[in-house]
Amino acid sequence: MRVLITGGAGFIGSNLVHFLLRERPEWTLINVDVLTYAGNLENLAGLENHPNYCFVKADIADVSAMEKVFEEHQPDAVLHLAAESHVDRSILDPSAFIRTNVLGTQVLLDVTRKLAKDCRFVHVSTDEVYGALPRTKERRFSERTNVKPNSPYSASKAASDLLVRAACKTFGLDTVITRCSNNYGPYQFPEKLIPLMIANAREDKPLPVYGDGSQIRDWLYVDDHCSALLTVLEKGKSGEVYNIGGDNEWQNIEVIRLILEYLSKPKSLIRKVKDRPGHDRRYAINATKLKEKLGWSPSRIFEQALPETIDWYIAQDEWVQRVRSGKYQSYFEDQYGTRLSE
Ligand code: NAD
Ligand code: TYD
Repeated sequence: MRVLITGGAGFIGSNLVHFLLRERPEWTLINVDVLTYAGNLENLAGLENHPNYCFVKADIADVSAMEKVFEEHQPDAVLHLAAESHVDRSILDPSAFIRTNVLGTQVLLDVTRKLAKDCRFVHVSTDEVYGALPRTKERRFSERTNVKPNSPYSASKAASDLLVRAACKTFGLDTVITRCSNNYGPYQFPEKLIPLMIANAREDKPLPVYGDGSQIRDWLYVDDHCSALLTVLEKGKSGEVYNIGGDNEWQNIEVIRLILEYLSKPKSLIRKVKDRPGHDRRYAINATKLKEKLGWSPSRIFEQALPETIDWYIAQDEWVQRVRSGKYQSYFEDQYGTRLSE
């Protein structure tokens, strides 16, 4: 099995590469990533000469580059994760989100149809396409919930979901869409809530809490997302959508307090800042379909995996510092620069 992973140098993508090399050692993985600020090959350090892994630096919105990748590597499946993924950046400038998330997805669908018609195409989307829930606990997002995105990021992901659906209905592509809740774990870029709060707390810097901090997110450990993607790739029904989540809702302020407590840092580091425009109040996933139809279940609980995640960021302080200083961006040149010119 030859699996093309897009966005494999990002947070979830790099965890997925490590996960699949462990869980399916007989597979060959082709990682296509253009290395935006969020792509970090240091997440995959040591794999450069792995016999079942290769990296291709390319833009998913570039038709000829994608055709070349498909012709050269002839994938049997695509796991499509490449995206602009940060809501706050999408508020500052939506254009890159439209280019990569919408146009890039359409390019991949077109190239798959042209060069790998029987390929299974797993589109990794987000629960954010459903919009926001009220704070009351009864309602959760199911696959039948209307798509009603509120940020340019979630709107671009929703648009890509609809293009994937259309490619299945109109052209008969074998597509499956997943919609996962917020992930946490190693290698997450420290602009997202959990790694940012860990990094700032460790440096005794203020922890910026948007609004009153009462917004709710449903946190899933990244390897549980990876196991769900493998399950959907192997067992999912063509044309279907599968929600992924771990029944693990926390208010932002509660998560921040847990981090401060674990690091023995004072609550006085918390700074309430102006709220994010259009800030979604609550996300909560009903993953019954994935659990009952495909037999998936999460393996990690937050109360254990969050401290372990904090320990990981402490142990990998050099990784954190290289990301925070921007030094990680020279890794590609250092590793591949001379080899590419050979
Ligand atoms: P990330 O921002 O950490 O990584 C994205 C990766 O995509 C980076 O390596 C980047 O270089 C690459 N990329 C961006 N534009 C590209 C392009 N034009 N061509 C090729 N590569 C490009 O994102 P993440 O948090 O790992 O999320 C991965 C996917 O999972 C995204 O599609 C996101 O919408 C989805 N998702 C994320 C979460 C979460 O909590 N992080 C939850 C649910 C779904
Ligand atoms: P984030 O990690 O950006 O994920 P998303 O917006 O996709 O859910 O943010 C998670 C929550 O934390 C969200 O409600 C916004 C909030 N937040 C803060 O309060 N302060 C911050 O500095 C960041 C980055 C996020």
